[in-house]
Amino acid sequence: MEKYLNTPIKELITKFPEVGNILQDYNIGCVPCALGSCLLKDIVAIHNLPEEQELELMYGIEKAIYPQKNVKKPVLKNAAKKETPQEIKYSPPIKRLVDEHALIKKWIGMMPAVIENIDLESDSSRQLILDGLDFIRFYADKFHHAKEEEILFEYTDKNLDIIKTMLADHETARGHVRAVLEAMEKRDKNAIIEHLVAYKELLCEHIKKEDEILYPWIDRGLSVTQVGELFTKFNEAEEKLDKEVIEKCKKFAQELEQRIQELKLETPRHIGMAGVSLPVKKEEVK
Ligand SMILES: [Fe+2]
Ligand SMILES: [Fe+2]
Repeated sequence: MEKYLNTPIKELITKFPEVGNILQDYNIGCVPCALGSCLLKDIVAIHNLPEEQELELMYGIEKAIYPQKNVKKPVLKNAAKKETPQEIKYSPPIKRLVDEHALIKKWIGMMPAVIENIDLESDSSRQLILDGLDFIRFYADKFHHAKEEEILFEYTDKNLDIIKTMLADHETARGHVRAVLEAMEKRDKNAIIEHLVAYKELLCEHIKKEDEILYPWIDRGLSVTQVGELFTKFNEAEEKLDKEVIEKCKKFAQELEQRIQELKLETPRHIGMAGVSLPVKKEEVK
């Protein structure tokens, strides 16, 4: 079994497809992962399942690999008591990132309402989208993703699939923002909606993976000194950014609900039906 613990997961799943099904039963999404070079032992460590579940998972995997072998079922202490999922406790610098996610989630959570009320003929509707893109570029990207990429991920092995995937997600997100900006210039409502929806879906999954898997795993590996170091580095990084812009982003998130309400009152005069593409004025197309 030792050699399989050090085998890249894609290789293992190709050889023993049942292993992929077992991982999926534990919500470990290795099957759809395009990379698959994580080692089985790293996957088990990163996901930090309760002891009982980890024993059951490894028992299932060993049985799938060695169907002929009489694999001994692990003796579970307190087997009757199912461990209830515990609230994740983060160190202060990581908690700061989780709190930043909360603000990002506030905006992406309201994207459907913004999309529903898009009216490219309305200055306030266009401004709301542009302000939302500024929030993503300055707060979600320069303020938040930059701390992950330039500081936090330095405390990990950047060759791990989970880190590569997170970095690739950041790039894909930047691509969606560029695409929405271009679509705004062209007044291409369908493209605006398409890329906002794609951004929302990507970030929802991305934040979930970070909050529930990646951050707790990184946190578990940090010494007290490293936690202090991280805290200082985050402060230093934030010092370099324009505080007014960050405050403006926070204000955007706080006022978003109100602005959507105002748009709803304004919307019927312009579009009447949500989701209907508007004719593009010729002189406005670049
Ligand atoms: Fe991230
Ligand atoms: Fe993040």
